[in-house]
Amino acid sequence: MKVSCVVLAAGLGKRMKSGLPKVLHKVCGVPMLRTVVDTVKGLDPHKIVVVVGGQRDLIRNTLNDDRVIYVSQGEAKGTAHALKCAMPELRDFRGVVVVVNGDTPLLGAGTIRRLVGLHKKNRNAVSVLSFEAANPDNYGRIVRDASGRVSAIVEHRDTVPGQIKIKEVNSGVYAINHEALRILNTIRMNASKGEYYLTDIVSETLKRGLKTAAYCMGSEEEFMGVNTREELLRASVIMKKRTVSGWMSKGVTFLDGDSVCVDPRVFIGRDTTIYPNVCLEGRTKIGERSMIYPNVRILNSRIGNGAVIKDSTVIEDSEVKDGASVGPFAHIRPGSVIGENVRIGNFVEVKKSTIGQGTKASHLSYIGDAAVGRDVNIGAGTITCNYDGTGKHKTEIGDGVFVGSDTQLIAPVRVGRGAFIGAGSTITEDVPPLSLAVSRTKQTNIRDWAKKRQVEMKRERPRAKGTDKK
Ligand code: UD1
Ligand code: CA
Repeated sequence: MKVSCVVLAAGLGKRMKSGLPKVLHKVCGVPMLRTVVDTVKGLDPHKIVVVVGGQRDLIRNTLNDDRVIYVSQGEAKGTAHALKCAMPELRDFRGVVVVVNGDTPLLGAGTIRRLVGLHKKNRNAVSVLSFEAANPDNYGRIVRDASGRVSAIVEHRDTVPGQIKIKEVNSGVYAINHEALRILNTIRMNASKGEYYLTDIVSETLKRGLKTAAYCMGSEEEFMGVNTREELLRASVIMKKRTVSGWMSKGVTFLDGDSVCVDPRVFIGRDTTIYPNVCLEGRTKIGERSMIYPNVRILNSRIGNGAVIKDSTVIEDSEVKDGASVGPFAHIRPGSVIGENVRIGNFVEVKKSTIGQGTKASHLSYIGDAAVGRDVNIGAGTITCNYDGTGKHKTEIGDGVFVGSDTQLIAPVRVGRGAFIGAGSTITEDVPPLSLAVSRTKQTNIRDWAKKRQVEMKRERPRAKGTDKK
């Protein structure tokens, strides 16, 4: 029997106090809805329908996923109403419809699969996944009859005194046979909140003599719904812990697993060491035996094997190859490739440039829109002047070039292989290979200039004293 999935994501998310739809808030760098959609993909569903409210385009653009069908729920009239909005998309579908909330990013595909398995095995019309909550206040209570069978789900605000103590709660994950979707039409508006509750499908199904069950399984953490910023942080901490533990079990050392941010899509090779306060974001891949020192942020970048990223360095959308060393306090901006065994030192900024193997730029430089060859020495304070106020221009530096300190390269410009540039030069024209370019005024030494000055000052001093009244 096939499965289709509906993700409910049209709630107003008022408790977030945000201009952004709740389901786009990020847990470990990934929008919650993205995570939930990826999870349900693990079920290999026939269709994935996401019910969205306002800002539909923003949600669609953020997800950018053509496996997803979006339906709009004009007004957020409750979870049952939201699911009803998805029904036209499931009109011809025969099988089990899995419903999940868009705000439960820690939910695993394996758990949903178990629910679907039990649902089919027991030939239920509707099955609900439940769990035991230490504090059940934000969840719907699972009410069971004397024989232990579920009879209703009651939201916290609707509980009667006996029910408030119930710890077993609704996870918001359901398996519903396509025939049972019709029952949604009979759910009446909940008077206390003015919404149509999907939770009422349980009692409505039972009324029709159809089989319904609630299966209590999994850990509370997994089903945590994110409704507030506080819960957003809590979910991030849990997900991060899972990620860090996963990498430790694969041979990565963390000096302080609590202070780091590691997105779930990051890859880290064995025997790499991650110091405190490191943020590894997006689709970052770190090789083996690399060192990532404190306060480093790496976004969507590849770091090779045996690389060293020193303290307080930022690397964005770039590649750092094997054995390279970057930082401290370096900024590698998008589109850069730092070659093997390159050394990028303190206060060096590299943008959209390739740096060839073995090259060194150890101090205080800006290298932008440049192609730098192998074994080049970039002296302290070298700057590529790539911007003329209108356009950006390229600087090309051949293999083995020596660029003296405090050089400005006015792009577009080429320095041929093996050339030397004298310190303090402003290079405005191409430098042929194996030549020396110097562009600074010749030094003049004026003999005894300082000596004469000292004599003059001595002569003037007595006069100065007389006028100096305190
Ligand atoms: C819901 C359940 C509760 C369960 C909890 C699990 C109901 C009435 N309550 O409560 O039993 O314990 O989830 O986390 O179902 N949504 C829409 N349209 C709407 C309203 C909500 O699409 O009109 C979406 C939201 O975006 C969210 C999900 O449905 O992803 C759940 O809505 P939310 O308001 O968070 O429900 P809870 O109060 O958490
Ligand atoms: Ca919720």
